[in-house]
Amino acid sequence: MEILTTVLSVSLISGGLALIIVMSEHFLNNYGECRLDINKGEKQLTVNGGSSLLASLSEHKIYLPSACGGKATCGLCKVQVLEGAGPILPTEIPYLSKEEIEQGYRLSCQVKVKTNIALLIPEELFNIRAYQTTVDRIDKLTHDIKGIRLRLPDDEEMSFKAGQYVQLHTKPYGKVKDSVFRAYSIASVPSERKEVELIIRLVPEGICTTYVHEHLSEGDPVMISGPYGDFYLRGNCSELVMIAGGSGLAPIRSIIYDVLEKGLDLKMNFFFGAVTKKDLYYLDEFAGLAARNGNFIFIPALSAPRPEDEWEGETGLITEVVDRFVENADDKEAYLCGSPGMINACLNVLGNKGFDQDKIFYDKF
Ligand SMILES: Cc1cc2nc3c(=O)[nH]c(=O)nc-3n(C[C@H](O)[C@H](O)[C@H](O)COP(=O)(O)OP(=O)(O)OC[C@H]3O[C@@H](n4cnc5c(N)ncnc54)[C@H](O)[C@@H]3O)c2cc1C
Ligand code: FES
Repeated sequence: MEILTTVLSVSLISGGLALIIVMSEHFLNNYGECRLDINKGEKQLTVNGGSSLLASLSEHKIYLPSACGGKATCGLCKVQVLEGAGPILPTEIPYLSKEEIEQGYRLSCQVKVKTNIALLIPEELFNIRAYQTTVDRIDKLTHDIKGIRLRLPDDEEMSFKAGQYVQLHTKPYGKVKDSVFRAYSIASVPSERKEVELIIRLVPEGICTTYVHEHLSEGDPVMISGPYGDFYLRGNCSELVMIAGGSGLAPIRSIIYDVLEKGLDLKMNFFFGAVTKKDLYYLDEFAGLAARNGNFIFIPALSAPRPEDEWEGETGLITEVVDRFVENADDKEAYLCGSPGMINACLNVLGNKGFDQDKIFYDKF
């Protein structure tokens, strides 16, 4: 009897506490309706307070760039807030320069809408839209990389610059109860406006890549938004040095096809790094392009080829290969895409060759 009374009392107390927490959350986080004033009166939105500025804008179909889905780890969702954002959070500081902080820039995923907010949004971001696509094809490119082809609705087209990316929105699956979104570079050429191709590497335990690799099938609907990003071809030179590792090949592929299709007078050198042969893909496609186009040179390289790879191509870290092949920075621009480690190492090598920072463009992922 004593045990039963204790169990009952504990259950009642925990239930009461849970109720108090739920009630206080409801009242404390109920900020009512708030107004978002965009570009000094150009647009006025009414939103329910309590969500992040990033989410509140996206509910009204204004999509700011974001790669981490609001976890304050990409720094892409910056926006200039004129008033109403409250004090800056420690999570924002690593992504904002001193000048940006002075000008009121904030990470929109970290700003909670609690009151009326006035902010500035660059005009070009209003062109970003959401598209309900259908998975047209899924190809297994390597043991951990898939190529995904998405078809836009019949009456819609996406216009983007080669090198830009989209955000892919997942649906809840298994134990993942919320929808998330992540950035994926477009691997197809901009002239194909009705289809978008992505190249997605599986990250162990990764929410979005597990969804794509294990829960997505041909014919399924997928929401994407875009296009985003300032990684695209400038072409103010006569020669391009392009370096990619893993799924970093995606935006470089788009740029290469764009240059060839438009017949631009640019020499292209593409260095593609992998560890062993099983990590390489599109080898035949790029070798074929190089055979047909004198202006395009393709140099795949393996850092640790296995004997069974029977690899006769370049070996070594991709930075070592670039160091061997690229003589100088004369009239060249560099486009890099891959892991932060690879990009940082490439920046060093290219710096030593004489490349100015404003001639090097990159997306780290
Ligand atoms: C501009 C941009 C373009 C991108 N384009 C592509 C692309 O074309 N193809 C592509 O495959 N990816 C691309 N990414 C990376 C992509 O946005 C995701 O970060 C990645 O797919 C992981 O998402 P996830 O939800 O599966 O992992 P999460 O659930 O976000 O992460 C799970 C765990 O893995 C870690 N993690 C996250 N990303 C990586 C990673 N890349 N390597 C190792 N560990 C990681 C996290 O720290 C976390 O601990 C791009 C990123 C950016 C910023
Ligand atoms: S969305 Fe990545 S930092 Fe805000």
